[in-house]
Amino acid sequence: SSIDKASFSWSAPSNIALVKYWGKKDNGEQIPANPSISFTLNNCKTITSVEVSKKGEAQDFSFDLLFEGQPKEDFKPKIQKFLERIEKFCPYLKEYHFTIDTKNTFPHSSGIASSASGMAALAMNIMSLEKAINPAISDDYFYAKASFLARLGSGSACRSVKGEVVAWGENKTIEGSSDLFGVEFDLLHENFKHFQDTILLVDKGEKQVSSTVGHNLMHGHPYASRRFEQAHENISLLVDILKIGNVAEFIKIVESEALTLHAMMMTSMPYFILMKPNTLEIINKIWKFRAETNIPVCFTLDAGANVHVLYPNNVKEQVLQFIQSELVGYCQNGQYICDEIGNGSQLI
Ligand code: PMV
Repeated sequence: SSIDKASFSWSAPSNIALVKYWGKKDNGEQIPANPSISFTLNNCKTITSVEVSKKGEAQDFSFDLLFEGQPKEDFKPKIQKFLERIEKFCPYLKEYHFTIDTKNTFPHSSGIASSASGMAALAMNIMSLEKAINPAISDDYFYAKASFLARLGSGSACRSVKGEVVAWGENKTIEGSSDLFGVEFDLLHENFKHFQDTILLVDKGEKQVSSTVGHNLMHGHPYASRRFEQAHENISLLVDILKIGNVAEFIKIVESEALTLHAMMMTSMPYFILMKPNTLEIINKIWKFRAETNIPVCFTLDAGANVHVLYPNNVKEQVLQFIQSELVGYCQNGQYICDEIGNGSQLI
């Protein structure tokens, strides 16, 4: 390859699953046990710049890692493992030395997982290098392979590459869906445009259960096979809901998915409760507010205690007022992050 020196910079957002990915097939290749679908976020993102320079010979991976401009040794093993995993798909990697400088727009240790945005941002930069080496590759190939590579870094990262709504995992509802990369769902109804996600930071502590451990708990789980079927059913329902703009039905599926994710963790061996008392307080307040006002606001959860409050853009004022008066008190140091649907990664 003929590139000696180059630099690239990409941002990639976090995403929030509506139908959750929880469990992978047992072949070590990051294949999901069930399909998932997510909203791409706009404000919570990782920005990663990469400088590449050609080395003398291609022995081993060689890279420096900076976090907010400062050397960050403890992230290196994760990146090393990622490069090893993708090497056979990117044979040019060992020809270069990489300087990777990365930062997040959301507060460090906010309890917001940065693996999806981080791995997606790195994958985009690697594809920019590939494109520099081989300018003939098409845009479709560029984005599909970026998502493919991101998946090998962190499963859900493949949903942070391109599009407002992204599905990952083969299913019969979404044409072109694949276990290997995310595909954009582009029939989103007006009612969901600019949908809001206000992330309430209930517990910013270290993750109690890493997602790797979590996915593994689905092996031999008593309810696994029914759960995987249910994800297919929910994808099918949700796709229609997103097309026709049925916010009331959206709420049912999304909240059920969040509670099911946590139910899977409570019923695995070993078992975990990842919600905190304040998580439940918030959920109950949301239900009460919704019942009293008819405002279509709902919640979803990640594998942790934080609550994502989802609602249409046209009720933003009332919901933010409700959050500020009734929910902020349950957040650690009163912290929350306002986000909304975004478009995916961007070249900077
Ligand atoms: O991408 P991972 O391996 O960190 O798994 C993410 C799992 C959940 O966030 C709980 C659900 C999802 O689909 O994003």
